[in-house]
Amino acid sequence: MMRMDVLTLFPEMFDGVFQSSILGKAREKGLVSLNAINFRDYAGNKHGTVDDTPYGGGGGMVLKPDPIFRAVEDLLGKEVEEDAAWQCPDSDERVEHGQAVPVEGMQATLQGKAPRIILMCPQGETFTQRKAEELAQEEHLIFICGHYEGYDERIREHLVTDELSIGDYVLTGGEIPAMTVIDSVTRLLPGVLGNETSAVTDSFSTGLLEYPHYTRPVEFRGWKVPDILLSGHHANIELWRRREALRRTWLRRPDLLEGLELSRDDIAWLKQLKEEMDQ
Ligand SMILES: C[S@@+](CC[C@H](N)C(=O)[O-])C[C@H]1O[C@@H](n2cnc3c(N)ncnc32)[C@H](O)[C@@H]1O
Repeated sequence: MMRMDVLTLFPEMFDGVFQSSILGKAREKGLVSLNAINFRDYAGNKHGTVDDTPYGGGGGMVLKPDPIFRAVEDLLGKEVEEDAAWQCPDSDERVEHGQAVPVEGMQATLQGKAPRIILMCPQGETFTQRKAEELAQEEHLIFICGHYEGYDERIREHLVTDELSIGDYVLTGGEIPAMTVIDSVTRLLPGVLGNETSAVTDSFSTGLLEYPHYTRPVEFRGWKVPDILLSGHHANIELWRRREALRRTWLRRPDLLEGLELSRDDIAWLKQLKEEMDQ
């Protein structure tokens, strides 16, 4: 079972998300274990202080390293050794080897594979479907959610394996970004989605944006469902869907087509679209 632990100052934010819909069902079925842990419990002082003013002055508060290190160490059942710096690994290399990078001083925990310790951070690698697919291969993910101005740099340098951003904007905390990553990873785990909601044709999984969908009624306010979808001709429907996915991607996200393996029919269709556009 995949395990995901979130270190946060606001564990209650995860209650609804972890209990509802597909994530809630995945937990009930024992496919994933999702836990939100308050790292204030690891403050080590009677006031529960987890942040402090920045050295060098300036505004904002900085999350102290000790509570976060202690919380991670509690999950690992092991102390992080002083010089056991976790390298922020090259993600391609990780995919290639298909397993977590072994780290000196911090051996694998749980079922045997070293956990990924992920810092939610607007300065991190931008989260993508490829990254979700990569993380879905792991056994244990630990997310660290920041708040306030930032983290003490030693957390970044000596504790985490990955830094993830959900986009080029700044939120008040790492909770919503962590929920985003957890949701997209969970839906890729075996057994989580039924066949009827397979992730295989989703946008980005195929490398393309997904084709348009229609449901009943056949005609709504004068707008009709394309005839081809009512034809019952599966091969033609598949071809239509492929072409519409290509059209949508070309119009909205042409960058996704770069480097994508395309069939002869795909290339001919894109050429035709371009010619139609130029007319
Ligand atoms: C107000 S932000 C801190 C931003 C920081 N001062 C900077 O300029 O990089 C507080 C926390 O929210 C989370 N956060 C904000 N935006 C994020 C994003 N785009 N992706 C991931 N986490 C984000 C991070 O955990 C961050 O530590």
